[in-house]
Amino acid sequence: MSFTLPKLPYEYDSLEPFIDARTMQIHYEKHHQTYVDKLNAAVKGIKFENMEINEILKNIDDVPSSIKTAVINHGGGHSNHSLFWQILIPAAETQEKPEGIILEAIENHFESFEKFKEQFTNAAINRFGSGWAWLVVNQDLELEIISTANQDSPLMDNKTPILCLDIWEHAYYLKYQNKRADYISAWWNIISWKKVSELFDEVNNK
Ligand SMILES: [Fe+2]
Repeated sequence: MSFTLPKLPYEYDSLEPFIDARTMQIHYEKHHQTYVDKLNAAVKGIKFENMEINEILKNIDDVPSSIKTAVINHGGGHSNHSLFWQILIPAAETQEKPEGIILEAIENHFESFEKFKEQFTNAAINRFGSGWAWLVVNQDLELEIISTANQDSPLMDNKTPILCLDIWEHAYYLKYQNKRADYISAWWNIISWKKVSELFDEVNNK
């Protein structure tokens, strides 16, 4: 068995005008595919090639040191992008904010949805270089906003991501160039709060 690209749940141009079709195509077909290919090359012929990528990352200390960096970078890249595609929705279906239990949890933890949005945006803007911003559920089942460098996954720190934002330049440079803040602001329009809510329920019902 080898790792493969997950199917995108929408078309490349579905996220226009917030994320352009060309960026989506290159991001998915080239960048994500490269992480998958390099992950497959790293684990070829050993037991990890038959495991779920998220299980490997949760147990990263079991990975032999000779391939650990490759698994963190390319396995992280595969896992992070797979989640990123899932938590986006077509622009035509835009939802302003979450509802129900996830909204309650956000309001309880961050005071208000607006404060959560501000804090998450700051985490994304202030990440130096390439990386990700995350809303995770930590080991105490509390929400937490974090940011990671490169392709590091929160799963390696026993944190379960339920929302993520790719802030590598490859995610926005064609349309936004150096204006990362504009990309982040646009991204809030295409979050699938339904998916985030499902992921939150999954963690809570474990
Ligand atoms: Fe990316």
